[in-house]
Amino acid sequence: MALIKGISLCFILYAIFVAFVSTNNLSSLPIISPLLIPNNIDRQRKHRHHKEETKTSICDDFPAGFPPPDTNTTSILCVDRNGCCKFTTVQSAIDAVGNFSLKRNIIWINNGIYFEKVLVPKTKPNITFQGQGFETTAIIWNDTANSSHGTFYSGSVQVFATNFIAKNISFMNVAPIPGPGAVGAQAVAIRVSGDQAAFWGCGFFGSQDTLHDDRGRHYFKDCFIQGSIDFIFGNARSLYENCQLNSMANPVPVGVKSINGAITAHGRASNDENTGFAFVNCNVGGTGRIWLGRAWRPFSRVVFSYTSMSDIISPEGWNDFNDPTRDQTIFYGEYKCTGGGANVTMRAPYTQMLNDTQASPFLSTSFIDGDQWLEPFK
Ligand SMILES: *[C@@H]1O[C@H](CO)[C@@H](O)[C@H](O)[C@H]1NC(C)=O
Ligand SMILES: *[C@@H]1O[C@H](CO)[C@@H](O)[C@H](O)[C@H]1NC(C)=O
Ligand SMILES: *[C@@H]1O[C@H](CO)[C@@H](O)[C@H](O)[C@H]1NC(C)=O
Ligand SMILES: *[C@@H]1O[C@H](CO)[C@@H](O)[C@H](O)[C@H]1NC(C)=O
Ligand SMILES: *[C@@H]1O[C@H](CO)[C@@H](O)[C@H](O)[C@H]1NC(C)=O
Ligand SMILES: *[C@@H]1O[C@H](CO)[C@@H](O)[C@H](O)[C@H]1NC(C)=O
Ligand SMILES: *[C@@H]1O[C@H](CO)[C@@H](O)[C@H](O)[C@H]1NC(C)=O
Ligand SMILES: *[C@@H]1O[C@H](CO)[C@@H](O)[C@H](O)[C@H]1NC(C)=O
Ligand SMILES: *[C@@H]1O[C@H](CO)[C@@H](O)[C@H](O)[C@H]1NC(C)=O
Repeated sequence: MALIKGISLCFILYAIFVAFVSTNNLSSLPIISPLLIPNNIDRQRKHRHHKEETKTSICDDFPAGFPPPDTNTTSILCVDRNGCCKFTTVQSAIDAVGNFSLKRNIIWINNGIYFEKVLVPKTKPNITFQGQGFETTAIIWNDTANSSHGTFYSGSVQVFATNFIAKNISFMNVAPIPGPGAVGAQAVAIRVSGDQAAFWGCGFFGSQDTLHDDRGRHYFKDCFIQGSIDFIFGNARSLYENCQLNSMANPVPVGVKSINGAITAHGRASNDENTGFAFVNCNVGGTGRIWLGRAWRPFSRVVFSYTSMSDIISPEGWNDFNDPTRDQTIFYGEYKCTGGGANVTMRAPYTQMLNDTQASPFLSTSFIDGDQWLEPFK
């Protein structure tokens, strides 16, 4: 584990991402993927110290007696791509969960890359994906809007169930990065359409439309979210705390004014909807020149608070989707942000610099009614 931890955050997944998009060739991946299995590293290290020891099975280091038996409130379903426990795919474990379970069903997923398109149907609430670290455990697929009858169906993972939790795992779409003006190349890593979902220490990797934060109340803590255009989009009511938002839009040369990406495209369609994206204590960086958000629908609502932003954020900050009638109805707020990208001198006129009272609804888990459903991380 020490070796893995020594490698900088996300480097491994990023390397895979780059390798995959540049070759779009599944068979080139296993060259990299053994790096993702700390067991292999542990084994090599052991071999150096105990040369006489001969291991015969890749599962020799798998913890004995795992998973523990069910309790009245919890079942653990074990997934290991090398076949060291009951399931080798995430979907087969989901399929084994009964409909409308009142227990929490923890799908424990060992280190590795799981190449599969995964669906958590409406009939399966209370599922947890427990990975071993977002740098080492990932679910990856490569559908696009074209290959899946629309952006909304392109997700590598699609969650329609309520009470979904994910911890320490990455969701990735490795479809080719679209060139300028490409059509039908949107590629979602995960679609979250169930109410009351929580993500702790997760990674989200894609380019256009990475995270489809579709519907319901959602919580994201300590997550890494990467993309280029509209890479967090949808009409959910979500709180993002302590997340790293990493733009991979093309760099823009000095003196060129073009904008080539946006972090958010929130889809609030009317004043009656209690939806919005609230970012607190986040960090915005990466490449390109991008907007904090653009108004996918007229009542789009996004607030950034206590967030540090590099100068990849364009001086006007936000975009009304080239529809000035939306300037009256969008709600784009900023509160106590820092960094070169947070200079508000040139901000679009409809941007709201919030005072303490105005900002307070967007600063805590009360924004997503957390007291009604959000369990503390354990
Ligand atoms: C996904 O990857 C597979 C294997 O490389 C390839 O055959 C398929 O065309 C890709 N799909 C898309 C939509 O790019
Ligand atoms: C995929 O990668 C493998 C190994 O790198 C190589 O042998 C093979 O020719 C590649 N296939 C395609 C379609 O590029
Ligand atoms: C689990 O449920 C059974 C049957 O309802 C009950 O007898 C048992 O005491 C429960 N065990 C615990 C630990 O709550
Ligand atoms: C679960 O619900 C689905 C959809 O309603 C149904 O097709 C399936 O048979 C159910 N499974 C079980 C085990 O009852
Ligand atoms: C399971 O789901 C039901 C319905 O969504 C919910 O009422 C219940 O609290 C959940 N239980 C657990 C353990 O998450
Ligand atoms: C998740 O990962 C973090 C840091 O990588 C670690 O501190 C934490 O114990 C892990 N927790 C779980 C439940 O996986
Ligand atoms: C998607 O399909 C349209 C229409 O067939 C085509 O023009 C476009 O190039 C396709 N996009 C990609 C990324 O394959
Ligand atoms: C903010 O931007 C304005 C206009 O570009 C510039 O004059 C000013 O020096 C900047 N302020 C800071 C603190 O960088
Ligand atoms: C915040 O702004 C609102 C709207 O302009 C105003 O009514 C309120 O008095 C302000 N509150 C503080 C604490 O400045």
